[in-house]
Amino acid sequence: MTIDTKVTVIGLGLMGSALARALLKSGLRVTVWNRSIEKANSLNTETVNVAGSLVAAIKASEIVVVCIRDYEATDKLFRVNAVEAELDGKVILQLSTGTPAKAREAAAWIISKGGSYLDGEIMGFPDAVGTNECTILYSGDVEAFISCKRVIDAFGGTVQHIGEDPGFAAALSSAVLSIYFSFLFGALNGAAICDAENVPLSLFKDLGISLLPVFGDVLSRSVDMISSDAYESQHSTLKTSVGALNQIASVGEGAHLDGRFVECMRKYAMEGLEAGYGSVGNAVIFKQFSRD
Ligand SMILES: NC(=O)c1ccc[n+]([C@@H]2O[C@H](COP(=O)([O-])OP(=O)(O)OC[C@H]3O[C@@H](n4cnc5c(N)ncnc54)[C@H](OP(=O)(O)O)[C@@H]3O)[C@@H](O)[C@H]2O)c1
Repeated sequence: MTIDTKVTVIGLGLMGSALARALLKSGLRVTVWNRSIEKANSLNTETVNVAGSLVAAIKASEIVVVCIRDYEATDKLFRVNAVEAELDGKVILQLSTGTPAKAREAAAWIISKGGSYLDGEIMGFPDAVGTNECTILYSGDVEAFISCKRVIDAFGGTVQHIGEDPGFAAALSSAVLSIYFSFLFGALNGAAICDAENVPLSLFKDLGISLLPVFGDVLSRSVDMISSDAYESQHSTLKTSVGALNQIASVGEGAHLDGRFVECMRKYAMEGLEAGYGSVGNAVIFKQFSRD
């Protein structure tokens, strides 16, 4: 069976090029297409097949990897008669970033054209593609996932098919990015405090890194509380956290720092306190996030 020896990559931006390079390196027969076709010059043009049109690119392989700006741009490219006519029997592996709703809608549309659909969210930078550091979450058609094995293996790293619902990869990826950005903003605020108070940033970095397992425990305990809808805590209560957040706000104020980030967290905690949740664990704030 040769289903996954030929693969097409649509999109040769930073990420699409990295994907194409990893596929070429693994020995697959790779066809590429990009709106600005000159970007193919950065690939090994001796081994890559550069398609002259999107239709030719899709015709060339049964597996079509898409990695362009977003799903809206993908729709504009794909939802024209000449392209639609080529989708029967194809596996579309969408690796552009999108929302769960758009992924579900795209899957339904591809299926209605006779193709199968797998959604992927790349949790890393282009230089990780093809290495052990590359984590890609996949969701959608399991058979499509299996038929893409050689392609998926070529991207390297941790491979996870997290569910048949094509929206899962986009949802989980956003959830994890939410941790990433709050961690990043928290780290920047902490660095600003140290900088203003002349505490060496190296001390801040070393202490922060040594505490990473504690942050992991907080994630684990919070998810357990949310899952069981039971917020009693032997560790810390929301009332205590409001005190800590007030202290961070005062320290920032004393150092004339921008207080918006801390104030945002403090507002959530205060709302929880006002709602009568002071004596339970901090994860109770989840109720304010979910608001249904
Ligand atoms: N870079 C990362 O670290 C990273 C990490 C995870 C996920 N991703 C996701 O990967 C996808 C691509 O990102 P990238 O880093 O490769 O971005 P990029 O370097 O900015 O490239 C964007 C790509 O999208 C194409 N494109 C944009 N609008 C288009 C349109 N209307 N019609 C056709 N093609 C269009 C561009 O074609 P032209 O060359 O013709 O402009 C180019 O191939 C995004 O969804 C991004 O969120 C990226």
